[in-house]
Amino acid sequence: MEKEQIQSLIDAAIAMLDFAYVPYSHFKVGAALLAEDGRVYTGCNIENAAYGPSNCAERTAFFKAVSEGARQFRAICIVGGPEGALSDLTPPCGVCRQVMMEFCSPEAFEIILAVSRDMYQVYTLKDLLPMGFGPGNLEETL
Ligand code: THU
Repeated sequence: MEKEQIQSLIDAAIAMLDFAYVPYSHFKVGAALLAEDGRVYTGCNIENAAYGPSNCAERTAFFKAVSEGARQFRAICIVGGPEGALSDLTPPCGVCRQVMMEFCSPEAFEIILAVSRDMYQVYTLKDLLPMGFGPGNLEETL
């Protein structure tokens, strides 16, 4: 991906920090998911008093996208930090990696972990979820 395109995803992810609902952890996360057709779906984390129903920013973005008909994705940018202060990378949790595995090519899907417009690292889904279990594993092979 070109740097300009990466930076616009970083901007979109950072803008979502304002909407993070984090009364329990105070750890804000923002995500911006780029679909194959160029549309960007954003997400923030949304916590819950019962803790378990909390939703990560990445899954918010994926579920918004899929619920609006998108099924193919190029990249996601993730930012996060305590009270929304960005000083470290925020890698996606295991559940979110598995959701990515459902809809994305492990070799092609890019995960951009950013601290700012100029400090970021790019991984493939395969880097972060080697030998993942996906839809292909359910296909009959015999
Ligand atoms: N969180 C995310 O939104 N994405 C991640 O990949 C890591 C964790 C959220 C969940 C919870 O609201 C807070 O960060 C602290 O775990």
